[in-house]
Amino acid sequence: MLRSVLLNLSTAKWSRRFVTESRVARRVASRFVAGETFPEAIRPIRDLNARRIAATVDHLGESVATNEDAVRATEEYLGLLEAISQADVWANVSLKLSQLGQQLSRELCALNLKKILDRARQQGIFVRMDMEDSPWVDPTLELYEQMRTLGYDNVGVVIQAYLYRSQQDVEELLSKLARIRLCKGAYKEPAEIAFPNKRDVDKNYLALARRLLDASREARLPADLGRCIPPLAAIATHDERIIRAVAQYAREHDIARDQFEFQMLYGIRRDLQESLAAEGYAVRVYVPYGTEWYPYFMRRLAERPANLWFFISNFIRR
Ligand code: FDA
Repeated sequence: MLRSVLLNLSTAKWSRRFVTESRVARRVASRFVAGETFPEAIRPIRDLNARRIAATVDHLGESVATNEDAVRATEEYLGLLEAISQADVWANVSLKLSQLGQQLSRELCALNLKKILDRARQQGIFVRMDMEDSPWVDPTLELYEQMRTLGYDNVGVVIQAYLYRSQQDVEELLSKLARIRLCKGAYKEPAEIAFPNKRDVDKNYLALARRLLDASREARLPADLGRCIPPLAAIATHDERIIRAVAQYAREHDIARDQFEFQMLYGIRRDLQESLAAEGYAVRVYVPYGTEWYPYFMRRLAERPANLWFFISNFIRR
């Protein structure tokens, strides 16, 4: 119920204005967002790298309203790729197609994505296409396929375990040796297309994670934890029970530690990020930066009621 309300608010203009103008909200959001500009985000990235943790950098923004905004976001990503290269940090990038104009024009979005993939290829950087809400799953997978057909292999996708369709999508993607990030799913979806109970989502997540690990072992794709070629399987969750079950499965099935990576979000379960890296697992942290942090922040609140109470108590204290 609370999750639903917060996810509805994440797209409401009045609430965006109210929250983004609040100094308290900005302070609470800074727990999840590394800064407003890339130079601000670079320090947290270096801190992660120093602890043997790689990053995937996201320039925040989604559902742009005009073609000009989509082109501006594309240019921001081109600059980001350049900056990552120059800073020589252990990082690749993540992006949302709705930021590149997917909801305005498929052609414009494809053109913008190609520009980014070209530059990323020159710099030896991998690009992960985040997955957004369900109407955009097919268009996103189609664009991914189009890019692979055009010969780009520095690109990967995301699968959401809460969708009933995901098992089939995983099989289709694995037949093309797609590099997949598996997450639970962060949007509000109806019961006709997504498991309404968390327990079922978790069960599906673990089953899909094991499938990805098996596929990764069979494919033996070259992996390099740094910028380009991440392993085929990226296990993106903070759910310690699932993480431990995945690690155990890998041990029992001789799946080498360079055949998969764990991924988590900036500011969430730092203790777990560090302990997994210290145990020798490949760990990558999703590091968002930018001024358009509102919808991202609201999804983080929706995931954990304690975050909302923390926000409210800070608000009241002021
Ligand atoms: P779950 O929600 O069960 O949480 C497990 C535990 O993790 C909690 O008990 C708590 O300790 C901690 N935790 C989880 N969320 C927290 C929060 N917000 N604040 C504090 N603690 C928290 N989704 C999507 O739809 N498309 C995408 O492209 C991506 N991309 C993505 C990349 C990466 C690297 C990650 C880690 C996640 C995503 N997600 C995503 C988000 C994902 O779908 C999901 O909403 C969150 O990861 C929360 O789910 P968990 O798997 O962590 O489990």
